Amino acid sequence: MALLPILTAPDPRLKKKSKPVEAVDDDVRRLMDDMLETMYAAPGIGLAAPQVGELRRVIVLDIDREEVKTGPLFMANPEIIEASNEDVSYEEGCLSVPDHYSDVVRPAKVTVRYLDRDGKQQDMTCEGLLATCVQHEIDHLDGILFIDHISALKRNMILRKLLKARKEKERDEAEGKPAKDKAKDAEHAL
Ligand code: NI
Repeated sequence: MALLPILTAPDPRLKKKSKPVEAVDDDVRRLMDDMLETMYAAPGIGLAAPQVGELRRVIVLDIDREEVKTGPLFMANPEIIEASNEDVSYEEGCLSVPDHYSDVVRPAKVTVRYLDRDGKQQDMTCEGLLATCVQHEIDHLDGILFIDHISALKRNMILRKLLKARKEKERDEAEGKPAKDKAKDAEHAL
């Protein structure tokens, strides 16, 4: 397994639509395993393939909370086949939008159809944080970030700050300064 570099906004690859995988073969399984390792190391609770520069419809998740413990979940070609009328708001973050958080409203309960790590089709009904996370990751496959769900004013402010932070990081690296500690808020890093 290998740790993959995570792209951060604004990166044009995060805005592209990913292609379905034809089959869950060894190559896709390797990508899934590398993504899971990368997600745990970040740390985060969900990661989509375009976040590591792979425009393929693959996501991984692992929610560990008192009310829900999923263990590692691998999904290829996930799609929402049913969504509740009831909505819920959750303060989302994203490994590709580091250190920024915002409330996003989404359906509270969804059923997702996907191919698992063995290529078997599964339907899973999700609620709570798992439902939020699945929808957030599927958005990534369509080039949508959580900041696309908030006001343009707030989105542009976050994008400006991300660019500024990236420039500071590049300058620090050029001057040989040690990297700043990352905020460790896995709960919100989807
Ligand atoms: Ni994300």
